[in-house]
Amino acid sequence: MKYIFGNWKENHTMNDVLSYIKEFKKQKLPLDVCYGLAVPYLYLQKMNQKLSKKCKIGVQNVSFSEKGEFTGEISAKMLTDFSCDFSLVGHSERRQKFKETNEEINKKIEMCFNNGIMPILCVGETKEEKEEGKTKKVLKTQLTKCLKDINLSKQFMVAYEPVWAIGTGLTPTPKEIEDNIAYIKKVLEENIKKVGVCVLYGGSVNPQNAKELLNGKSVDGALVGGASLNAKKFIDIGKNLANVRR
Ligand code: PGA
Repeated sequence: MKYIFGNWKENHTMNDVLSYIKEFKKQKLPLDVCYGLAVPYLYLQKMNQKLSKKCKIGVQNVSFSEKGEFTGEISAKMLTDFSCDFSLVGHSERRQKFKETNEEINKKIEMCFNNGIMPILCVGETKEEKEEGKTKKVLKTQLTKCLKDINLSKQFMVAYEPVWAIGTGLTPTPKEIEDNIAYIKKVLEENIKKVGVCVLYGGSVNPQNAKELLNGKSVDGALVGGASLNAKKFIDIGKNLANVRR
């Protein structure tokens, strides 16, 4: 099974959402692909009502606190009222633009687990870190800090998203993707004692490059930003993979 998850970010209005649902329903889905969409909170309910049979529906962020004086935040518990399947946690835009720390991300993951929401932990190096040869070091630090002292008996996923590849049209080579994801799995197994975690690749994935980028044996799928905004394009990413039954 391959996992193709989308992240709409701060995009779409209700009108767009309704057309997206229509378009998504028209498409024939490949058999061995599990689709998921991280949508803005406001569209969670509508998307769940209309698409939950065909696609997992989740959100892009969650509060690190259970409740209280945190103006503007949405707690994991609130999300359970809308049957939210998953939440992205620690996306690089949250880390960079909202100054989220590994410690906060750690608490967010715990909140997700406590409320039956599957976290998808995003990790990845910046351009400078890559150039300085620090990619693996960064990945290991992010993984160990974000997952520190958490009971990992429940399912979670990791998304490997090099910051320099997000929204830029640039991508690592298929070999770099395979190597870094294999390394993430090794850290999860050896340092965190967790086997069988699905790890996705994210950063400028589209229907044209999906087959090549996602073919590595350690790569379980993709987290897609820009190309998930159009339902047909998004579904085509899954259809274009090698070895899926169409
Ligand atoms: P992109 O975004 O596909 O537009 O590069 C990926 C992401 O931010 O998850």
